[in-house]
Amino acid sequence: MTKTVLITGASSGIGAALALALSSDWHVVLVARRTDRLVALAAQINAGGRQASIITADITKTGAPLHIVDEAVRLTGRLDALVNNAGVFNVAPVSAIDQAHVVAIWSLNVTAPILLASAAIPHLAKHGGSIINISSVAVESTFSGCAVYTASKAALEAWSRIAREELRAQRIRVGVVAPGATDTEVWPAGQTFDRTRMSPAADVAAAIVAVLMMPAGSSIDRLVVAPAGGAL
Ligand SMILES: NC(=O)c1ccc[n+]([C@@H]2O[C@H](COP(=O)([O-])OP(=O)(O)OC[C@H]3O[C@@H](n4cnc5c(N)ncnc54)[C@H](OP(=O)(O)O)[C@@H]3O)[C@@H](O)[C@H]2O)c1
Repeated sequence: MTKTVLITGASSGIGAALALALSSDWHVVLVARRTDRLVALAAQINAGGRQASIITADITKTGAPLHIVDEAVRLTGRLDALVNNAGVFNVAPVSAIDQAHVVAIWSLNVTAPILLASAAIPHLAKHGGSIINISSVAVESTFSGCAVYTASKAALEAWSRIAREELRAQRIRVGVVAPGATDTEVWPAGQTFDRTRMSPAADVAAAIVAVLMMPAGSSIDRLVVAPAGGAL
Protein backbone atom coordinates (compact mmCIF):
# COMPACT_ATOMS: atom_id res chain seq x y z
CA MET A 1 0.00 0.00 0.00
CA THR A 2 1.35 3.43 -0.96
CA LYS A 3 2.66 5.49 1.94
CA THR A 4 0.72 8.63 2.86
CA VAL A 5 2.05 12.05 3.86
CA LEU A 6 -0.04 14.91 5.22
CA ILE A 7 1.40 18.32 4.22
CA THR A 8 0.05 21.53 5.73
CA GLY A 9 0.43 24.76 3.78
CA ALA A 10 0.41 22.84 0.50
CA SER A 11 -1.33 25.56 -1.53
CA SER A 12 1.88 27.52 -2.22
CA GLY A 13 5.61 27.84 -1.68
CA ILE A 14 7.54 25.10 0.07
CA GLY A 15 4.46 22.96 0.77
CA ALA A 16 3.35 22.87 -2.88
CA ALA A 17 6.92 22.11 -4.03
CA LEU A 18 7.12 19.31 -1.46
CA ALA A 19 3.82 17.82 -2.62
CA LEU A 20 5.10 17.68 -6.19
CA ALA A 21 8.42 16.17 -5.12
CA LEU A 22 6.90 13.47 -2.91
CA SER A 23 4.00 12.55 -5.17
CA SER A 24 6.15 10.26 -7.30
CA ASP A 25 6.26 7.75 -4.42
CA TRP A 26 3.70 8.88 -1.84
CA HIS A 27 -0.01 9.55 -1.67
CA VAL A 28 0.07 13.24 -0.73
CA VAL A 29 -2.71 14.82 1.32
CA LEU A 30 -2.73 18.57 0.74
CA VAL A 31 -4.03 20.89 3.47
CA ALA A 32 -4.60 24.67 3.30
CA ARG A 33 -7.46 27.20 3.17
CA ARG A 34 -7.38 28.09 -0.56
CA THR A 35 -9.42 25.32 -2.20
CA ASP A 36 -8.78 26.55 -5.76
CA ARG A 37 -5.02 26.22 -5.30
CA LEU A 38 -5.34 22.75 -3.76
CA VAL A 39 -7.69 21.54 -6.49
CA ALA A 40 -5.30 22.75 -9.21
CA LEU A 41 -2.27 21.12 -7.59
CA ALA A 42 -4.09 17.84 -6.93
CA ALA A 43 -5.31 17.79 -10.55
CA GLN A 44 -1.73 18.25 -11.79
CA ILE A 45 -0.52 15.37 -9.60
CA ASN A 46 -3.42 13.05 -10.38
CA ALA A 47 -3.09 13.75 -14.12
CA GLY A 48 0.38 12.27 -13.93
CA GLY A 49 -1.06 9.01 -12.58
CA ARG A 50 -0.01 9.82 -9.03
CA GLN A 51 -2.19 10.21 -5.95
CA ALA A 52 -3.22 13.46 -4.25
CA SER A 53 -6.13 14.23 -1.95
CA ILE A 54 -7.14 17.60 -0.58
CA ILE A 55 -8.51 18.82 2.73
CA THR A 56 -9.56 22.47 2.83
CA ALA A 57 -9.13 23.69 6.39
CA ASP A 58 -7.94 26.48 8.62
CA ILE A 59 -5.66 24.47 10.87
CA THR A 60 -5.94 27.02 13.69
CA LYS A 61 -9.66 26.38 14.25
CA THR A 62 -10.67 24.45 17.34
CA GLY A 63 -10.99 20.77 16.47
CA ALA A 64 -9.39 21.17 13.04
CA PRO A 65 -6.20 19.16 13.71
CA LEU A 66 -8.10 16.04 14.82
CA HIS A 67 -10.59 16.38 11.95
CA ILE A 68 -7.79 16.77 9.38
CA VAL A 69 -5.90 13.70 10.54
CA ASP A 70 -9.09 11.59 10.73
CA GLU A 71 -10.05 12.75 7.23
CA ALA A 72 -6.58 11.98 5.84
CA VAL A 73 -6.76 8.44 7.19
CA ARG A 74 -10.31 8.03 5.90
CA LEU A 75 -9.21 9.16 2.41
CA THR A 76 -6.01 7.12 2.17
CA GLY A 77 -6.28 4.28 4.68
CA ARG A 78 -3.08 5.08 6.58
CA LEU A 79 -0.71 7.85 7.68
CA ASP A 80 3.09 7.56 7.49
CA ALA A 81 4.28 11.15 7.78
CA LEU A 82 3.16 14.60 8.86
CA VAL A 83 4.94 17.70 7.56
CA ASN A 84 4.02 20.74 9.63
CA ASN A 85 4.87 23.33 7.00
CA ALA A 86 2.09 25.97 7.21
CA GLY A 87 3.37 29.09 8.87
CA VAL A 88 2.98 32.83 8.96
CA PHE A 89 5.70 35.48 9.03
CA ASN A 90 4.26 38.70 10.48
CA VAL A 91 6.58 41.52 11.47
CA ALA A 92 6.22 44.01 14.35
CA PRO A 93 8.67 45.85 16.60
CA VAL A 94 8.52 44.61 20.20
CA SER A 95 7.06 47.95 21.29
CA ALA A 96 4.06 47.45 18.99
CA ILE A 97 3.20 43.79 19.63
CA ASP A 98 -0.45 43.28 20.53
CA GLN A 99 -2.57 40.25 21.28
CA ALA A 100 -3.72 39.82 17.68
CA HIS A 101 -0.11 39.68 16.47
CA VAL A 102 0.86 37.05 19.06
CA VAL A 103 -2.27 34.91 18.57
CA ALA A 104 -2.04 34.95 14.76
CA ILE A 105 1.54 33.69 14.80
CA TRP A 106 1.31 31.35 17.77
CA SER A 107 -1.90 29.58 16.78
CA LEU A 108 -0.51 28.70 13.33
CA ASN A 109 3.22 28.24 13.99
CA VAL A 110 3.04 26.49 17.38
CA THR A 111 -0.39 25.33 18.55
CA ALA A 112 -1.60 23.80 15.28
CA PRO A 113 1.53 21.73 14.53
CA ILE A 114 1.62 20.39 18.09
CA LEU A 115 -2.06 19.38 17.97
CA LEU A 116 -1.70 17.88 14.48
CA ALA A 117 1.17 15.78 15.80
CA SER A 118 -0.90 14.66 18.79
CA ALA A 119 -3.65 13.52 16.45
CA ALA A 120 -1.20 11.83 14.06
CA ILE A 121 0.89 9.89 16.58
CA PRO A 122 -1.47 6.89 16.99
CA HIS A 123 -1.52 6.42 13.20
CA LEU A 124 2.23 6.99 12.70
CA ALA A 125 2.98 4.46 15.44
CA LYS A 126 1.31 1.66 13.45
CA HIS A 127 4.11 1.39 10.87
CA GLY A 128 6.82 3.68 12.24
CA GLY A 129 6.61 7.17 10.78
CA SER A 130 7.89 10.72 10.65
CA ILE A 131 6.96 14.17 11.86
CA ILE A 132 8.85 17.00 10.18
CA ASN A 133 8.48 20.53 11.49
CA ILE A 134 9.46 23.48 9.32
CA SER A 135 11.32 26.01 11.42
CA SER A 136 13.59 28.86 10.28
CA VAL A 137 17.17 30.08 10.51
CA ALA A 138 15.58 32.97 12.42
CA VAL A 139 15.96 30.76 15.52
CA GLU A 140 19.74 31.24 15.55
CA SER A 141 19.73 34.74 14.03
CA THR A 142 18.72 38.19 15.29
CA PHE A 143 16.21 39.77 12.91
CA SER A 144 14.67 42.98 14.25
CA GLY A 145 10.89 42.97 13.96
CA CYS A 146 10.70 39.19 14.11
CA ALA A 147 10.50 38.61 17.89
CA VAL A 148 7.26 36.64 17.99
CA TYR A 149 7.97 34.75 14.76
CA THR A 150 11.43 33.78 16.06
CA ALA A 151 9.99 32.77 19.44
CA SER A 152 7.34 30.65 17.70
CA LYS A 153 9.90 28.70 15.68
CA ALA A 154 12.12 28.28 18.76
CA ALA A 155 9.09 26.89 20.60
CA LEU A 156 8.39 24.44 17.78
CA GLU A 157 12.01 23.29 17.83
CA ALA A 158 11.90 22.84 21.62
CA TRP A 159 8.75 20.73 21.29
CA SER A 160 10.49 18.72 18.56
CA ARG A 161 13.44 17.84 20.80
CA ILE A 162 11.20 16.43 23.53
CA ALA A 163 8.90 14.67 21.09
CA ARG A 164 11.89 13.09 19.33
CA GLU A 165 13.00 11.54 22.59
CA GLU A 166 9.55 10.41 23.72
CA LEU A 167 8.54 8.91 20.37
CA ARG A 168 11.67 6.84 19.68
CA ALA A 169 10.08 3.78 21.30
CA GLN A 170 7.20 4.01 18.81
CA ARG A 171 9.63 4.22 15.84
CA ILE A 172 8.46 7.77 15.04
CA ARG A 173 11.25 10.13 13.95
CA VAL A 174 10.90 13.86 14.56
CA GLY A 175 12.94 16.09 12.24
CA VAL A 176 13.32 19.84 11.92
CA VAL A 177 14.14 21.62 8.65
CA ALA A 178 15.22 25.26 9.04
CA PRO A 179 15.20 27.18 5.75
CA GLY A 180 16.91 30.47 5.17
CA ALA A 181 15.41 32.97 2.73
CA THR A 182 13.31 31.01 0.25
CA ASP A 183 11.55 32.43 -2.80
CA THR A 184 7.86 32.09 -1.89
CA GLU A 185 4.79 34.26 -1.36
CA VAL A 186 5.87 34.81 2.24
CA TRP A 187 7.96 37.64 0.76
CA PRO A 188 5.34 40.19 -0.37
CA ALA A 189 5.03 40.95 -4.08
CA GLY A 190 5.82 44.51 -5.07
CA GLN A 191 8.66 44.93 -2.59
CA THR A 192 12.27 44.93 -3.70
CA PHE A 193 13.74 41.68 -2.45
CA ASP A 194 16.53 40.10 -4.45
CA ARG A 195 14.74 36.82 -5.14
CA THR A 196 17.68 35.53 -7.16
CA ARG A 197 19.59 35.30 -3.87
CA MET A 198 16.92 33.14 -2.20
CA SER A 199 16.70 29.35 -2.25
CA PRO A 200 14.10 28.03 -4.69
CA ALA A 201 11.19 26.37 -2.86
CA ALA A 202 12.01 23.14 -4.72
CA ASP A 203 15.45 23.06 -3.06
CA VAL A 204 13.93 23.28 0.41
CA ALA A 205 11.47 20.57 -0.63
CA ALA A 206 14.42 18.38 -1.65
CA ALA A 207 15.90 18.79 1.83
CA ILE A 208 12.61 17.77 3.45
CA VAL A 209 12.48 14.69 1.20
CA ALA A 210 16.03 13.82 2.30
CA VAL A 211 14.98 13.94 5.96
CA LEU A 212 11.91 11.87 5.26
CA MET A 213 13.77 9.25 3.20
CA MET A 214 16.67 8.78 5.63
CA PRO A 215 17.22 5.01 6.11
CA ALA A 216 15.54 3.66 9.24
CA GLY A 217 18.78 3.13 11.15
CA SER A 218 19.50 6.86 11.46
CA SER A 219 17.76 10.22 11.52
CA ILE A 220 18.43 13.78 10.45
CA ASP A 221 17.34 15.68 13.54
CA ARG A 222 17.82 19.24 12.24
CA LEU A 223 18.74 20.41 8.77
CA VAL A 224 19.53 24.00 7.76
CA VAL A 225 18.94 24.97 4.11
CA ALA A 226 20.75 28.15 3.12
CA PRO A 227 20.84 29.99 -0.22
CA ALA A 228 24.03 29.07 -2.07
CA GLY A 229 24.99 32.75 -2.31
CA GLY A 230 24.80 33.21 1.45
CA ALA A 231 22.24 34.92 3.66
CA LEU A 232 20.32 37.90 2.25
N1 LIG B 1 10.05 31.59 2.62
C1 LIG B 1 11.02 31.75 3.51
O1 LIG B 1 11.94 32.57 3.32
C2 LIG B 1 11.03 30.92 4.77
C3 LIG B 1 12.19 30.94 5.57
C4 LIG B 1 12.20 30.19 6.74
C5 LIG B 1 11.10 29.44 7.10
N2 LIG B 1 9.98 29.43 6.31
C6 LIG B 1 8.83 28.63 6.74
O2 LIG B 1 8.44 27.77 5.69
C7 LIG B 1 7.06 27.43 5.85
C8 LIG B 1 6.34 27.58 4.51
O3 LIG B 1 6.34 28.94 4.14
P1 LIG B 1 6.43 29.45 2.63
O4 LIG B 1 7.63 30.29 2.54
O5 LIG B 1 6.25 28.32 1.68
O6 LIG B 1 5.19 30.47 2.60
P2 LIG B 1 3.80 30.52 1.83
O7 LIG B 1 3.99 30.28 0.38
O8 LIG B 1 3.17 31.78 2.29
O9 LIG B 1 3.01 29.27 2.42
C9 LIG B 1 2.32 29.30 3.63
C10 LIG B 1 1.26 28.21 3.57
O10 LIG B 1 0.57 28.16 4.83
C11 LIG B 1 -0.83 28.06 4.54
N3 LIG B 1 -1.60 28.61 5.65
C12 LIG B 1 -1.50 29.86 6.16
N4 LIG B 1 -2.40 30.01 7.16
C13 LIG B 1 -3.07 28.81 7.26
C14 LIG B 1 -4.12 28.35 8.10
N5 LIG B 1 -4.65 29.14 9.06
N6 LIG B 1 -4.58 27.09 7.93
C15 LIG B 1 -4.04 26.30 6.96
N7 LIG B 1 -3.04 26.68 6.16
C16 LIG B 1 -2.56 27.93 6.31
C17 LIG B 1 -1.02 28.86 3.25
O11 LIG B 1 -2.15 28.43 2.54
P3 LIG B 1 -3.60 29.14 2.55
O12 LIG B 1 -3.37 30.62 2.54
O13 LIG B 1 -4.22 28.61 1.30
O14 LIG B 1 -4.28 28.64 3.78
C18 LIG B 1 0.24 28.46 2.47
O15 LIG B 1 0.00 27.25 1.78
C19 LIG B 1 6.53 28.34 6.97
O16 LIG B 1 6.45 27.61 8.18
C20 LIG B 1 7.59 29.42 7.08
O17 LIG B 1 7.66 30.00 8.37
C21 LIG B 1 9.92 30.16 5.14
